[in-house]
Amino acid sequence: MQSDRGHWGSNAGFILAATGSAIGLGNLWRFPYITWDNNGGAFVLVYLVCILAVGMPIMMAELLIGRRTQKSTVGALRECAGRWWGVFGVWGVLCAFLLLSYYTVIAGWSLYYFARTAAWSAGGYPVGLATGDLFNAQVGNAGLQLVLSLGFSLATIAVVWFGVRDGIERLARVSLPILFGILLLLLVSALGMSGSGQALGFLFQASFSELEAGSALSALGHSFFSLSVGMGAMITYGSYLSRKQSIVKATAAIVALDTGIAIVASIIMFSVIFSVAGMTEQVGASPVGMLFISLPELFYTEVPFGVLLAPLFYILVAVAALTSTISLLEVVTSYLIDEHALQRHRATLLSGAAVFVFTIFAALSFSGTPFLSSLAVFANKTGWFETVDHFVSNVMLPTGGLAVTLAAGWFVSRRISHGELVDGNQPGWFRYAVWLGFIRFVAPAAVLAIIIAVLLGTDFS
Ligand code: PHE
Repeated sequence: MQSDRGHWGSNAGFILAATGSAIGLGNLWRFPYITWDNNGGAFVLVYLVCILAVGMPIMMAELLIGRRTQKSTVGALRECAGRWWGVFGVWGVLCAFLLLSYYTVIAGWSLYYFARTAAWSAGGYPVGLATGDLFNAQVGNAGLQLVLSLGFSLATIAVVWFGVRDGIERLARVSLPILFGILLLLLVSALGMSGSGQALGFLFQASFSELEAGSALSALGHSFFSLSVGMGAMITYGSYLSRKQSIVKATAAIVALDTGIAIVASIIMFSVIFSVAGMTEQVGASPVGMLFISLPELFYTEVPFGVLLAPLFYILVAVAALTSTISLLEVVTSYLIDEHALQRHRATLLSGAAVFVFTIFAALSFSGTPFLSSLAVFANKTGWFETVDHFVSNVMLPTGGLAVTLAAGWFVSRRISHGELVDGNQPGWFRYAVWLGFIRFVAPAAVLAIIIAVLLGTDFS
């Protein structure tokens, strides 16, 4: 059984894999549009505070719980915090399951735009193309959506099939450096554009008078999503970690890379948008489409070397999404391996297939399918896709995150958490006390604030 669990091959491999989980559609698609929606500057600052004060302590908590027990979400919480905490482990597995089911659909869109931009780069861009209509046509095409998300699901299953070291870690080692390289190229290109000064001002000049009510809470919600915490992905990745790795240093690296990439992605997108007359108004109306509606055309009309960069960029989005989907599938797979004694291959196929059934529902949400396109449970959310997304971001992640803070702060013994967090021969008491203060008081209070806001009807998705 032990061989089916696996272990990271090296410290750097683990950091790359966990960073790969954190960096995904949250950084490239969601962060830029919610930052735009919340008027930049002050929102970015609040987001950074949330990352440092809440996200980071929770990530350390998840990693330490995982490493200590060497078990996946359910078994880890049960062993570390007490028997009935296993319930929250099951909650996390369900959350990963549902999140993966619709995340795969958005990831599929990046495959579509990769194919499209590759064709345009080779054969010429059809100037004047209505990119909004193109987007609607692709999401509304049921057959296409099924093919795209099946393709992406199979890729996810293939990586998890090969296990922790030969699948997940190997992919991260190869793809993350490439991803950083492409982003750097794009950044250089974007900084040369006329709108880059305005973009930097928009992102870094905080004007608190423009901060809308509820922005702070959506920053907090997104910090969970972006760091992959609140549903056990980091517990699972932590469970493959050896005692030699410093959890504090690893967390610092993962958080810095994840946040840095979100900001770089925003600088790129906003530089392009501010460089084009009339684009700010156009984006203003529906920032959600920034990545798939505004950007494709701009690559061909505005961005220097856009013909080369466009397909590279969409393959980057797909790869970033893949290193996230594998961490979500691993949560479900490792649960089956640890709690139901399944072999890895069988567990991977079973969980992958089960998730895909729900992916089908999400993929068919935009094509006028009875029930799936019209489902209306929450106000202003229509269809299966939007309903599940709303439920996961507004209910499951915040409650899961709260459970982890309470478990780690109040139920895991201090001997255990201190032993895991303080490395080697350093005294480290100060660092530990700071973490304990955040995990016991600051983080739960902040998460509770989100949950109360959700109950009062604030929307974070
Ligand atoms: N962090 C990923 C992103 O930013 C999403 C994710 C959440 C992945 C939870 C795994 C677990 O896109």
